[in-house]
Amino acid sequence: MSDDPLSQLTAGTTDPDEAAAEGSLRPRTLNEYIGQEGVKASLSVLLAAAKARGEAADHVLLYGPPGLGKTTLATIIARELGVNVRYTSGPAIERAGDLAAILTSLDEHDVLFIDEIHRLNRAVEEILYPAMEDFALDVMIGKGPSARSLRLSLKPFTVVGATTRAGRISGPLRDRFGMTYRLDFYEEDELTSIVRRTAGILGVEMDADAAPQIARRGRGTPRIVNRLVRRVRDHAEVHGDGRINMRAVTEAMRVLDIDDLGLDATDRKLLAAIIQKFGSGPVGVQALAAVLAEEVETVEDVYEPFLLRLGFLDRTPQGRVATDAARAHLGALGFDIPAPRRSEPDLAGLWDSSTPS
Ligand SMILES: Nc1ncnc2c1ncn2[C@@H]1O[C@H](COP(=O)(O)OP(=O)(O)OP(=O)(O)O)[C@@H](O)[C@H]1O
Ligand SMILES: [Mg+2]
Repeated sequence: MSDDPLSQLTAGTTDPDEAAAEGSLRPRTLNEYIGQEGVKASLSVLLAAAKARGEAADHVLLYGPPGLGKTTLATIIARELGVNVRYTSGPAIERAGDLAAILTSLDEHDVLFIDEIHRLNRAVEEILYPAMEDFALDVMIGKGPSARSLRLSLKPFTVVGATTRAGRISGPLRDRFGMTYRLDFYEEDELTSIVRRTAGILGVEMDADAAPQIARRGRGTPRIVNRLVRRVRDHAEVHGDGRINMRAVTEAMRVLDIDDLGLDATDRKLLAAIIQKFGSGPVGVQALAAVLAEEVETVEDVYEPFLLRLGFLDRTPQGRVATDAARAHLGALGFDIPAPRRSEPDLAGLWDSSTPS
């Protein structure tokens, strides 16, 4: 991750200091978890039914952009079930034996949280299939012609998988989850509640009208609004009496270079690149990533989802296109907005009256 403070605001990954701060802000129960009402309603039935039957809950797959609360939800699932949760991630499990060691150490009905589950390697996935389906572990004994496979049974457990990209998960793995939930960006009123809750936990005083102003710049993402609350608090402490008011919000956003819609310098750079360098698109994501000096995966997972949601970006088979709304937003901010290249096919249509435009 870059040490640029702006990219840290949108970044999905967290440094150790921030991880500690996030831990203290994490809701602990489904009731405390704000928003995602459909997911919560369905999950609470799933969890209550599992508890009533005295069984391990069905395996659950959570997907959605970074910072929307997947890890938080996994922790809540275990807590609501009254069991332990073991955290691991796709890249952390290198060999089949690593997974076997984790699986045999689980207690009855425990939750195994696998973050970035789309990054599990094949050999590990092969061990996971029978483990999820039959609570069985197939181990090979011996080598060569005398090798044989032995099936060990595991205590029933629940896998909670998380991923930012459901499309990258293999079909057989996806089929083994009883439930799949997609987390979506939060509404502004939900984010406002999260801002107030966070301020309360941090012990910061906040004017009533300041909370929605932070929320609307939070890119629909709890992690980002929580970061903004901390940055605005810093600002209020250094330049004011510590109380968060409208002025502290406005000034902190100016310093952070976050505009009224919550876009930061990288978002605007991405849109400006499409508009100015590529005639508003279509342009391939590789070219965009190169302009931003970011990984393709970061562009796709961190920056694009919110721009798509705002309607500033379209994904077409030919590549990314900046929409008229994006052009208007950047234009209002003083960016140079050349005519889009994509208007050319429409003009060409004028020469052929038999083709409807
Ligand atoms: N529904 C919610 N209500 C209140 N706070 C939330 C909610 N969801 C997430 N948060 C806050 O946002 C922070 C980030 O959430 P979390 O770490 O669960 O996201 P994530 O989806 O796992 O992200 P990543 O994809 O980067 O792993 C949490 O520390 C928590 O404080
Ligand atoms: Mg997470």
